[in-house]
Amino acid sequence: MTQKEINIRYAEYSSLEEMDAQDRELAEAAIKAMNNAYAPYSHFHVGAAVRISNGDIVQGSNQENAAFPSGLCAERTALFAAGARYPDKDFLSIALAGGVYGQLGAHPATPCGACRQVMAQYQAKSGKPLSVIMVASGKIWKFEKVDDILPMIFNSI
Ligand code: THU
Repeated sequence: MTQKEINIRYAEYSSLEEMDAQDRELAEAAIKAMNNAYAPYSHFHVGAAVRISNGDIVQGSNQENAAFPSGLCAERTALFAAGARYPDKDFLSIALAGGVYGQLGAHPATPCGACRQVMAQYQAKSGKPLSVIMVASGKIWKFEKVDDILPMIFNSI
């Protein structure tokens, strides 16, 4: 038997100003997208923004439903919108921001497992790393690739 270990490397920023211009713009787009959340049940508003290889940004927000499982997280709303609009482009990065009643939280909102799996699929489709940026007030995390938040990714393609 051998003990194995996986190390995860990520960057932590204390303000948006510390980030490079592209990442900052994406993080700000995610924060703005929180305003479009429809979260009458959880009151937890999440915004997401996807950077397309042509430079465009596609935003998404969580959309809840009285039949709870019919709702969708912000990340998948953004990724599926991006996939529908840009079927032949690569996705380079996704940012997300969240907080109760639309107030940006002090701790970064982290994507659920299903959203990580969807991110993994688009990363595999493009063959390029998809970076993931999680935004909170005074704390921003950046992971360079989906593998860092979903070790041992399932991938049959
Ligand atoms: N939610 C997201 O949109 N993204 C996440 O990363 C975590 C959770 C949504 C789902 C639901 O509408 C609300 O936040 C509370 O879980």
